[in-house]
Amino acid sequence: MTKAILRKEMKKRLIANSLLHWYEQNKRTLPWRDQHDPYIVWLSEIILQQTRVEQGMPYFMVFSQKFPTVHDLASADIEVVLRAWQGLGYYSRARNMHKCAQIIVYELDGVFPSQKNELEKLPGIGSYTAAAIASLAFGRREAVVDGNVMRVISRLYGILDDISANKTVKTIQQIADATIPAHRPDLFNQAIMEFGALHCTPKKPQCQTCVLAEVCMARQTQNVSNIPYKKAKIKKKDRFFAYFIINIHGRYLMRKRVAKDIWFGLFEFFLIESSINLPFDELILPEVLTKHPDRFVIGAVSDPFKHQLTHQTIYCTFHEIEMSDNVTFEAGDWPGYALYSPDQIHKLPKSILIDRYWGKKIN
Ligand code: ADE
Repeated sequence: MTKAILRKEMKKRLIANSLLHWYEQNKRTLPWRDQHDPYIVWLSEIILQQTRVEQGMPYFMVFSQKFPTVHDLASADIEVVLRAWQGLGYYSRARNMHKCAQIIVYELDGVFPSQKNELEKLPGIGSYTAAAIASLAFGRREAVVDGNVMRVISRLYGILDDISANKTVKTIQQIADATIPAHRPDLFNQAIMEFGALHCTPKKPQCQTCVLAEVCMARQTQNVSNIPYKKAKIKKKDRFFAYFIINIHGRYLMRKRVAKDIWFGLFEFFLIESSINLPFDELILPEVLTKHPDRFVIGAVSDPFKHQLTHQTIYCTFHEIEMSDNVTFEAGDWPGYALYSPDQIHKLPKSILIDRYWGKKIN
């Protein structure tokens, strides 16, 4: 073993031992702890998803009294289960739990699978819950990775990558898998989660009294408040494009898009854009149309097209407008637009949306 590998090994052992020691002295007494009934482990873990311990506790008490075994839950009416869940939110958790209980009772003879990959096949049981049941109930060496574990490990290893990226989650899972000891993996899992919940908290972690201060990269590099790093999500924008296919004596109004925006340099029909979905009669049409409603006829309107881009969704409709025979094209009425024949339009560069619409219209 090289010195570097040895050092890494020692760090992992030190982390595991320190966390186990800390846990022994600081753990909360919680009703689902210090027992290995897979039903109770499963119930508590599902309740505690996206829910704080203080909020989940009364629900756990009610559930474990009303449905003390997986058989009681499986035979209960879904309405009764949902009633007991009322107020906790994310009701799919309760529905999945009921379904899962029925599978365990009616298909698996009331026996919970003990392996992580088998547990993951059940409704509502993902990687985290499967690892929790496999280790806390069956003593298997399966590391749990929840928000608390991600924070503790990313700080210990100074991981500055975006914590919500799959790649980062994978790296953290690998570190957790390599750190969890073979002896009492259940205690290690509870210890690291408890340490994240009580000591290595998101805000104001207690670094001054931390048993892992010596090996914490975030602390050594003064990055504790920057880790875990979460890339700000760019808010997706909805845009509503109403295109008017304005036909003046067999030619159509089009313009080149020149703004620094999507489809720069491509050609498009007369466009009215809005940030909300307006009905046709609320679209603000150009004066040349509103002043002379007798000079055009409104033809077909397309179904809306949805076009998904990375940070925006375009909802687009096409309205056919035919100008009367006596109307001539005045450039001043249509700033930026010019008339193009179908042949010319065929050759112009267009967005995929316009190209598709035009292709259908012509064929
Ligand atoms: N949060 C998720 N699982 C937990 C557990 N078993 N104990 C305390 N908090 C938790």
